[in-house]
Parts: sequence; C-alpha cells; structure tokens
Amino acid sequence: MKLLVIGGGGREHALAWKIAQSQRVSHVFVAPGNAGTGREPGVVNVAQQTIPELVEFARRERIALSVVGPEAPLAAGTVDAFRAAGLKIFGPTQAAAQLESSKDFAKAFMVRHRIPTARHGTFDAAAEAHAYVDAHGAPIVVKADGLAAGKGVVVAATVAEAHAAIEAMLVEHAIAVQHAGAGSRVVIEDFLEGEEASFIVMADGKHVLALASSQDHKRLSDGDRGPNTGGMGAYSPAPVVTPEVHARIMREIILPAVNGMAADGIPYTGFLYAGVMIDAAGNPSTLEFNCRLGDPETQPIMMRLKSDLIDLFEHGINGTLDQVDAEWDRRVALGVVLAAAGYPGDPHRGDAISGLDQPGEGCKVFHAATSVAEGKVVTSGGRVLCVTALGDTVRHAQRNAYAEVARIHFDGMQYRTDIGHRALAARRS
Ligand code: AMP
Ligand code: GLY
Repeated sequence: MKLLVIGGGGREHALAWKIAQSQRVSHVFVAPGNAGTGREPGVVNVAQQTIPELVEFARRERIALSVVGPEAPLAAGTVDAFRAAGLKIFGPTQAAAQLESSKDFAKAFMVRHRIPTARHGTFDAAAEAHAYVDAHGAPIVVKADGLAAGKGVVVAATVAEAHAAIEAMLVEHAIAVQHAGAGSRVVIEDFLEGEEASFIVMADGKHVLALASSQDHKRLSDGDRGPNTGGMGAYSPAPVVTPEVHARIMREIILPAVNGMAADGIPYTGFLYAGVMIDAAGNPSTLEFNCRLGDPETQPIMMRLKSDLIDLFEHGINGTLDQVDAEWDRRVALGVVLAAAGYPGDPHRGDAISGLDQPGEGCKVFHAATSVAEGKVVTSGGRVLCVTALGDTVRHAQRNAYAEVARIHFDGMQYRTDIGHRALAARRS
C-alpha cells in the first residue's frame, strides 16, 4: 500500500516513521515533509501543497490511505475534498474541525452537551470584554477565537494583563489568527487550577479508541515559566491520568463529545485531542479540543505504539474502532524540543545542525522545522527537532533523551532542561 501524510512538522515525521514500519506499506509520501522525513527509509517528500494538488497526487499515485497532521489543512476542508473524490482519508471534516478552529464553537458545543469546561463569555466588542474582566477579576484567561498555533491564549495573572490581551486581540490585531469567519473575537474564561494532560483518541463517528496518555510542556522556560508555545517537550504516559481519571475523561468528556457531534449532525472522525485540566480531587475539565494529534505529544506516543498504525486507520475509516485495541510499549517515552533562537517570536532560520548521525539506542530524533541547504540540514522555523527516547522509568527516558540532546548543536539552540518534571514529582510522592 502507498500512504500519504499531509504536513511537515515533528508530528508528521513521527507518523511517517511509524507508518513506514508497517509490513503492509510499500511507500510513504509526506507533503511537504522536512529534512527528517526526506532521510527516513521508505519515506519520500513531495511538493504538493494545495488541496487540488494533493487530491490529484493521491489519485495519480493510487494512494490507499491519507492522513492529515496539522489543523490548518483540516480547517480548510482537505478531508471533505478527498472524500468527494472517493479517496480514503482519516481526519475530521471542515465542519467537525471547528471544535479546534473556533474556540467559540467549541465552548458553545461543550455547554450544549454538558461537557465540563471553564465558565466563559464571548466578545467581539472590546468595551464589553473589558467590562467582563472588571466584573470577574483575575486570574482570568483570554483566548483569540481562531487558529493561532498555540499562541492565542493569554493566562492573565492580573486584570491589567487581561485588558492588554483584549487590546492586542480585538483592537491592535497583534496576534496572527486564521479566521474562518469575519472579524476578530475573544473568549474569556475562568482560570482553572490543576495539572494538565493531553488525552487523544481516534474516533470513527461513533466509537473511540483511546491512545496512550501524554503530557506537554507549554511554557518556554524551565519551571513552567515564560510565554506559551506550541509545546517544548512531552512524555507518555502521564501519571496524572490514573485509571480512574482515564475513565472519567472518557465518560465525561470524550464520549459526550463524539456522541454530541453525531447528534448535532457533524459526526466526528479522526484524531480528537482533549486538553484537560485535572484538579486536586481528580475532576477533569476541558481546556480545549484539538482536531488532530498533538505536537510534540505524537513523538513519544508513536515511540510507544506497538500496533500497526495502518490497521488502526482502517478501523477508523470503516467505523469499526470498537473492534480493536492498541498495544503499547510499557516503557516511558520522553521528547525534548530543540527550538531556534527567537522562538516563540520570529525564529532565526538557516543555521546548520550538527550531531544528527547515529542516535543512541532507544532514541529517535524527529525533525520539525528543518530543511536541506547545500547538502546540510539547517533550521527552518521555530521548533526544530524533538529528541525522543524510551526508558524503563521517567528518569531513564529523561537521561537518554538529554544524552542525545547533548550531541546536537545549532546556533541559538534553546530547550528546557526539565521535561518530565511533573512525572518525576508524581513518582516521588
Ligand atoms: P488552549 O490553547 O486553550 O489549550 O490554551 C493553551 C494553554 O493555556 C493551555 O494548555 C493551558 O496551559 C492554558 N490555559 C488555557 N485555558 C486555561 C484555563 N481556563 N485555566 C488555566 N489555564 C488555561
Ligand atoms: N502540543 C499541543 C498541541 O499540539 O496543541
């Protein structure tokens, strides 16, 4: 079989790497891919970009199955176009992808289906948004409505910060947001306390198959300080997701979401990612839905997946996810993101990367923003690599990943030195 992976980041490298291991697969194409997918055995990068180009490519190459990595092509209707052309693809339709592409859609959906989430208000007029903040006080969370690559959320510790965020989003339009609709809009919601986890499932419209739990590190700097990013590292499993918490997330968030989408006439197919906050008593609340796998969560998750991913995709497309289980490596997988100077602002590009050859046992360096220039692998964006390693314990996985990080270099390289710290604390207590 030939498969097509759409996207070019770390998540897509991990997907392509895993898919290429399947006995059933002869070729994996990645559009557009990166320097890492280009060097991966059995994987070929292709330049096709637009939806019509991708559809035409899939037809011509007789692609058996396609999968979309990032949110933007999903929100643009890639799945709808492939299906209309009679091509098999695993992912949500444009309408279903609104769970991520519009915070307002997602909040209204959660309220309608009684899915636990922070109390909120939606505003397109700055004066009303400011008044809401004054009435509710801080801490409070201000979110741009639309896709903003993880950077459209301001967790405001003070009322002044919240007012500034409203000005930036509604008045100065200082945050790059891709909008499906017209003008700008913000969602303002209560601050939730607790520990975050990423809970990702595959859905076929009716049934779900939960993937292994994971936890991301959203802040730029050690100790969870600094600005929010797309994610600076991740590991799987997440100890905060105990069997009890797992059952509650499924019962209170995931199943009502998939059933609610079906009831609303927008059946949800594809990966569904719930960002959850778990309070001290173990109550889960929904921070966000994403209509795709997490990046960098996918990298450790794929390192642990033992099942053939193609089989899982087929069950997802055929509506039979209730008939399969996924098998996981018992070990911990942990990934450290190496980011370029300037990230999460404007990253420096074109720096040569060294130390990528011959990674250690149980390690895999997934590329994200890399390209090839004059035969050398160079940086081409913010999150450059995700160095991922397996280990018998969190400590071992962490040690293995950082040993590999120490071999890699590019100018301005920045990374956190404490990926996995919450899992280590959980083990000690
Ligand atoms: P989101 O894109 O909505 O997940 O927000 C990005 C990050 O902001 C989350 O991963 C959380 O760390 C934080 N965040 C979002 N909403 C809240 C909230 N209501 N309370 C506390 N932190 C939040
Ligand atoms: N790592 C968070 C995300 O993919 O949205």
